[in-house]
Amino acid sequence: MTSPSVSFRRATPHDAVALSAFARRVFHDTFAADNTPEDMAVYLAQAFSPAKQLAELEDARRVCLLMEADGILIGYASLLDSAPHAAVVAGHPVELERFYVDQRWHGRGVAASLMDAARTVARAWQGDVLWLGVWERNAKAIRFYEKQGFERIGAQTFRLGSDEQQDAVMSTALTA
Ligand SMILES: CC(C)(COP(=O)(O)OP(=O)(O)OC[C@H]1O[C@@H](n2cnc3c(N)ncnc32)[C@H](O)[C@@H]1OP(=O)(O)O)[C@@H](O)C(=O)NCCC(=O)NCCS
Repeated sequence: MTSPSVSFRRATPHDAVALSAFARRVFHDTFAADNTPEDMAVYLAQAFSPAKQLAELEDARRVCLLMEADGILIGYASLLDSAPHAAVVAGHPVELERFYVDQRWHGRGVAASLMDAARTVARAWQGDVLWLGVWERNAKAIRFYEKQGFERIGAQTFRLGSDEQQDAVMSTALTA
């Protein structure tokens, strides 16, 4: 199947409100069935408020890439130049902090295009390893990351509201 035509751009602080609404919707679509409404409400308010999105978009250690189809936001990837998880062995690791595609666009190849765009940003930072945490119960995302060359290298905890969850930590080398 050929990939539909999508475009990419770096988010700016002007995108904070739209990004907040999109991120909340996609996170809810993905995880609401496996979590309590209370835990979801706490996490959505804490992680994806417009103020939090704005602060992240103004943070020089982060880049947020928006993926659009006909000007409509259909996915985003957030990269963070941060201290890595202990299992990450790299000279300059870059964290793929968020990676979300609208459900209507799953299975159509655009997630791979978003990953290509994310790798390009990470390489431009002189990153040599891209790493991420993914809920161990998110089999679809884990399968996607494996197809993209990521391997499991460890685990970390993630707090969703009152629930402490196990994330798999995965990484892949950023070859030129
Ligand atoms: C993760 C995500 C970006 C992948 O994009 P996608 O377009 O769905 O990816 P693909 O279709 O290329 O690959 C998904 C793979 O998982 C498989 N899959 C689908 N549902 C699955 C399930 N319940 N269990 C295991 N594998 C599953 C698909 O068959 C496919 O594998 P295949 O190509 O070998 O058949 C997208 O699903 C998404 O945004 N999900 C919601 C947000 C999310 O979970 N983000 C990751 C947070 S760390």
